[in-house]
Amino acid sequence: MPKHVHRVAGLLAPLCIATFFVATVLTELFGSHAAVAQLKSLIVTPGLWILIPAIAAAGGSGMFLARTRRGRRVDAKKKRMPFIAANGALVLLPCALVLDRWAGAGAFDARFYAVQALELLAGAVNLTLMGLNVRDGLRLAGRLRAPSRTAPAA
Ligand code: HEM
Repeated sequence: MPKHVHRVAGLLAPLCIATFFVATVLTELFGSHAAVAQLKSLIVTPGLWILIPAIAAAGGSGMFLARTRRGRRVDAKKKRMPFIAANGALVLLPCALVLDRWAGAGAFDARFYAVQALELLAGAVNLTLMGLNVRDGLRLAGRLRAPSRTAPAA
């Protein structure tokens, strides 16, 4: 059961961040202010209501699975998790809430775009950390082969 929970949450969380990221870039570049406001609202509800439980479930189930596992991949995943959680709770969550409020009020000023840039940066960091956790997780589960460490014979 924890394995299934981890697999679903571990794929859902990065998928959410990637979707929010791509949708944000596309609507900022090509969408109207109304479209941006609509997206900001969707990122908060239902977006955050899916993303936050997914991150918590991935972290919790991952720690549970790691009880019986040792090694550098497990250690690396454990070390990344506090950064993923802190970045989510302290940067992504407040940014999403404030951007939704400002976009809803039509306040597309310099402050809005500064926070939007910060949100995209934090999203890219979390996507990278989660991507590394997915890669190490797939290797731990035996679904992805690690690259060979030996140099090819001349
Ligand atoms: C948001 C953070 C995380 C993501 C996105 C993530 C993602 C994944 C994915 C996609 C898998 C492969 C599952 C499968 O195909 O069966 C996996 C496996 C695994 N993860 Fe994570 N993980 C995260 C956090 C953690 C944490 C904090 C730990 C604790 C060390 C952890 C430990 C493991 C272990 C031990 C496996 C192998 C499970 C098995 O043997 O089947 N993960 N992870």
